[in-house]
Amino acid sequence: MAMATGARTRIFSGVKPTGHLTLGNYLGAVRRWAGEDQHRAEALFCVVDLHALTVEHDPARVRRLSRQAATLLLASGLDPELCTVFVQSHVDEHLRLSYLMECTASDGEMRRMIQYKEKAPAERARGGSVRLSLLTYPALMAADILAYGAHEVPVGEDQTQHVELTRDLAVRFNQRYGATFVVPKATQPVVATRVMDLQDPASKMGKSHARTAGIVYLLDEPEVVRKKVLRAVTDAEPDVAYEPERRPGVANLLNVLAGCAGGDPRRLAEEYDSYGALKKDVAEAVVETLRPVRERHAELVAEPSYVDAVLRRGAERARALARPRVDAAFEAVGLLPAG
Ligand code: AMP
Ligand code: TRP
Repeated sequence: MAMATGARTRIFSGVKPTGHLTLGNYLGAVRRWAGEDQHRAEALFCVVDLHALTVEHDPARVRRLSRQAATLLLASGLDPELCTVFVQSHVDEHLRLSYLMECTASDGEMRRMIQYKEKAPAERARGGSVRLSLLTYPALMAADILAYGAHEVPVGEDQTQHVELTRDLAVRFNQRYGATFVVPKATQPVVATRVMDLQDPASKMGKSHARTAGIVYLLDEPEVVRKKVLRAVTDAEPDVAYEPERRPGVANLLNVLAGCAGGDPRRLAEEYDSYGALKKDVAEAVVETLRPVRERHAELVAEPSYVDAVLRRGAERARALARPRVDAAFEAVGLLPAG
């Protein structure tokens, strides 16, 4: 039985509360969720707190960051009248379905995930052990998506491999046990899909990196943003040109400018003959992009009961959407209904 999802496209995406949200999260994901996705589809946006437990974590910090992430999603323009904003651990269906996904995936498939291959050695190098949940993370992510029958998953490019795996698991499950899940696809924005670290343009601007000088956080004060942009690493050549492979630092600045102020990064390059002028414009464009988000965030922080109410309603709605499909999946794999 192909579960009906109604005529409207359904969208699911999530953000991990492992650090403060960055400009990369905003340009690569959240801005489009607010500007487009919530208007054209039935959209769910989730603070995926269970995923934050896959690496060493401090309980109080995860709790704080989860609330902050939810508040920032609202501050970025997600409108609870238009979409569903909720916290993953408030809806049991994610964990229920995650186990079925672990029973659908193979261990080889999990071990092939680039993110695991990168993060596992990093955790070991930090002297810690690698949590089993870091390996099984994509099973939980697949459950997040499949529980809602999402057609589209708007994510940054770094997450496409996980969405591909989700598709494979959906197809496999449907073949083995009967049509249960919608097979989703990843969707990506046109520009600034990947914002790179301003100090290390070879790696993405990630919220859990230890060195913060190259990371612009959504809540950074304007002065801090300016300082970080002005100190961005470029390269030894004096002119401004858009050559992402050879000159990733400058290309990243041009991408950020295009992402914040509009335009095409290649064309924008032609308008500058010095890094100084380019950086100044990038800094101002970023400050102006973040200004309304910071202002709205400050208002929402003053209204914690409003945020709580949004999350409570969001979880109720999400639960109601996910439960029938997850119940159907339990039955399809051969688990005896509770009666
Ligand atoms: P995460 O920070 O891993 O929870 O990611 C939340 C969303 O933001 C995902 O869709 C990511 O692909 C996206 N994202 C995270 N960092 C970046 C970045 N530096 N550039 C573009 N998109 C990003
Ligand atoms: N893995 C994603 C990330 O690191 C976060 C995430 C978890 C997610 N579950 C999801 C994104 C489901 C989209 C859909 O960014």
